[in-house]
Amino acid sequence: MRWGRIIAIGVILIAAGIAWWIYRALKREPAPEALIKPIGTPVQITAPSGLPPVPIPPDNPPTVETVALGRKLYYDTILSVDKTTACSTCHSPGLGFTDGKRVSEGAKGQEGRRNAPTLLNTAYNTMQFCDGRAPSLETVMKDRLQSPTEMAHTLEGVERRLMANPVYEAAFAKAFGPGPIKFQMVAQAIASFERTMLTGDSPFDRYLYGGDKESLSKSAERGLEVFRNPKKGNCAACHSIGESHALFTDNKFHNLGVGVNAKGKLTDLGRYAVTKNDADRGAFKTPTLRNIALTAPYMHDGSVKTLREAIDLHLRGGNPNPYLDKEISPRDFLSEQEREELVAFLQEALTGPVASNLERPEAFE
Ligand code: HEC
Ligand code: HEC
Repeated sequence: MRWGRIIAIGVILIAAGIAWWIYRALKREPAPEALIKPIGTPVQITAPSGLPPVPIPPDNPPTVETVALGRKLYYDTILSVDKTTACSTCHSPGLGFTDGKRVSEGAKGQEGRRNAPTLLNTAYNTMQFCDGRAPSLETVMKDRLQSPTEMAHTLEGVERRLMANPVYEAAFAKAFGPGPIKFQMVAQAIASFERTMLTGDSPFDRYLYGGDKESLSKSAERGLEVFRNPKKGNCAACHSIGESHALFTDNKFHNLGVGVNAKGKLTDLGRYAVTKNDADRGAFKTPTLRNIALTAPYMHDGSVKTLREAIDLHLRGGNPNPYLDKEISPRDFLSEQEREELVAFLQEALTGPVASNLERPEAFE
């Protein structure tokens, strides 16, 4: 009798388990974010001097084929709904991979509200966009393509358009294997190309890491000292310089009061939109300062036209607002000469070469 009851309970439990398993299996949607492993020839991305090794996601190792495909897609207006806009429209190699505008203008002439940042060294960002809303280069693409002020397209629309193009059909098959083109492949190929968009080996790198003391002018050399000294500019507190490499960002978010209106109110909540944490109101990601001489205007809203203006804004302790970062404090004591030395450092020392294979590709087979 006792055994009968135990067996009955066992059977009921097993049946319930099987029912639960079937229910979960039916409910599970195909994970849209799952990365598709590229086929083809792996490539090693070598970082120039002054940069750490490039982080590579295990599911999307760069290959000759994906990088070449990503490069072609990057320069192709085929991705935007009205075929007017490519990634390179707003991130142009001639302008340090920005568009030189205060805020960007996308497909159908729609104006956005933010300034296009450089894409050089974005491979190192732990979060993408000035509010960090995308965790990786692979996830950026969905945002870019669907944004009404950028490419204003749909993911299916992009897939359909690419599949109707025999050159792309062949290129995707070489990069990811035969079968239908998936949006995820577009995102992965462009991300792999972006991981090759690097800049280092600047006069600053040769000076600090290469021991070439001649590579900086005297004023840029003094500017570096002002930049690093916590009692002077204290700039490296956020625009980090490491022992063996420098990214000029701490990958964190700070409120400098950029974009407050005349009443002291924030016009863009920045990081807060992602975290809903009050302390993040008006906080934006610290941007890199590499190649900064080429990427004016500055700040997330493009409101600052010159480097001197950007420096003065920091040194007056930012613009007053209730959420101002604690790490930014007025440094009115910095002399006119020290400010100009900071300009000289940013202007002369931080521009490095970029590889020629980042330019628009000439032909594509
Ligand atoms: C219409 C102009 C425009 C187009 C087209 C455009 N972008 Fe951008 N991009 C921007 C702006 C503006 C931002 C800053 C947005 C923000 O931070 O909220 C940005 C940010 C980014 C970032 C984040 C960089 C960082 O440091 O956080 C990446 C990566 C990026 N874009 C890649 C691309 C790629 C790849 C394409 C093509 C698929 C593309 N963009 C198309 C304007 C554009
Ligand atoms: C508390 C952290 C912090 C410190 C300290 C700091 N910065 Fe910044 N810096 C930022 C953040 C955050 C931004 C972007 C703000 C925005 O877009 O709203 C920025 C933006 C900039 C920009 C514009 C970059 C671009 O591409 O738009 C320049 C130039 C700059 N900083 C230089 C300096 C200099 C020079 C110093 C030292 C005098 C300094 N920063 C100190 C956090 C800091």
